[in-house]
Amino acid sequence: MGFFTRDIKKMDDLFVHTLRDIYYAEKQIVQALPDMIEKSHDPPLKQGFKSHLGETKNHVTRLEQVFRLHRQEPKGVDCPAIDGIIEEAEDVVGEVEDKSVLDAALIAAAQTVEHYEITRYGSLIAWAKELGRNDCAALLQQNLDEEKATDRKLTSIAESRVNRIAA
Ligand SMILES: [Fe+2]
Ligand SMILES: [Fe+2]
Repeated sequence: MGFFTRDIKKMDDLFVHTLRDIYYAEKQIVQALPDMIEKSHDPPLKQGFKSHLGETKNHVTRLEQVFRLHRQEPKGVDCPAIDGIIEEAEDVVGEVEDKSVLDAALIAAAQTVEHYEITRYGSLIAWAKELGRNDCAALLQQNLDEEKATDRKLTSIAESRVNRIAA
């Protein structure tokens, strides 16, 4: 699916395309989080990553429910944005030696991912409502709420502990 083939004709096509994009992204995040869990040192941070891995697996499942409600096969589409975010995170993390600075870098990387997810879910929810799919919107909202809570939790771990230890 690309700009030249013009496969996205209607709002509904855009909704499905973006659903495939976030589905791919969530699956990439499931792959990336175990490494972040392993590399983190601060116990609350490690625990936070662990619980978000569990939530992220549920995000994938909820997206599959949204596809089915919308009578679509669950499938992903390459998302260069999330690939780039994860790749950059791995690069930066690989450059950091000090373990508390590493924790600060991991938090920044994770928050970049959360913010990406938040923008995607924000659009999807708005479009689902316009398309008369409040059932889909409600499921997407559950994912969005967990992304926002994770983002807030990361901010609080950074500000109350990790940044202070790292500085
Ligand atoms: Fe997610
Ligand atoms: Fe997330």
